[in-house]
Amino acid sequence: MTKEVLAVRHVTKRFGQGENQVVALQDASMSVRASEVVLIIGPSGSGKSTLLTILGGLQTPTEGEVRLMNEDLQALPQRDLEKLRLDKIGFVLQAYNLVPYLTVADQFKLVDQVKKTPNVAEKPFDRILRRLGIVAMTHRYPDELSGGQKQRVALARALYADPTIILADEPTAALDSERVNEVGQLLAEIAHQQHKAVVVVTHDVRLQEFADRTYEIVDGRLSEKT
Ligand SMILES: Nc1ncnc2c1ncn2[C@@H]1O[C@H](COP(=O)(O)OP(=O)(O)OP(=O)(O)O)[C@@H](O)[C@H]1O
Ligand SMILES: [Mg+2]
Repeated sequence: MTKEVLAVRHVTKRFGQGENQVVALQDASMSVRASEVVLIIGPSGSGKSTLLTILGGLQTPTEGEVRLMNEDLQALPQRDLEKLRLDKIGFVLQAYNLVPYLTVADQFKLVDQVKKTPNVAEKPFDRILRRLGIVAMTHRYPDELSGGQKQRVALARALYADPTIILADEPTAALDSERVNEVGQLLAEIAHQQHKAVVVVTHDVRLQEFADRTYEIVDGRLSEKT
């Protein structure tokens, strides 16, 4: 059995108080192992981004526990949590989070500056850029890119840091079907060949064929599809 990378136990997340209270996640439990692509599929407002940011320690649950590589995220001191995030997690957030005043190439160089542990070597990274169709974009700034191009740059940046787990929020929202297949295949390859854990939250059913396991999320309730 490959090792468990992520364990989520009875996680509930509430926002607000009293009659304004929103229950974004209701008693969610799941696990992710190395070498698998786990898809979490659900409609807008179902709790996907809330779940993904909790998985990566960007938000804390109201109740329940998240363990990443056997560390209880809530019990970790802030500095250790930041280090774990930097070294082990590749985030592809819904808003891309590219630095507006840096070219694509400099976005990657920035990773070298903040993260000391080895990043992906030049040759394999070139291959990733080619696969994602963004080689010709490396001298452009984010506002000179289309939505789909920004999305692929954000994915490349997450992969560049050679993370143990990739957490991606709607990584294909702005992509046509051909690019969806390319991204789906790339994520599956990275999981299966490099033994990464890949978690994708999405409403894009086109990604289902690339997933090893799929969960559904509806109104904050998570269940595994069989
Ligand atoms: N900071 C917050 N304060 C209050 N409510 C919030 C907050 N963040 C999320 N919510 C609510 O929690 C629910 C889940 O939101 P979330 O962003 O996780 O959904 P989503 O599945 O990612 O949606 P989308 O597909 O549109 O991105 C929604 O009802 C949302 O309004
Ligand atoms: Mg979302």
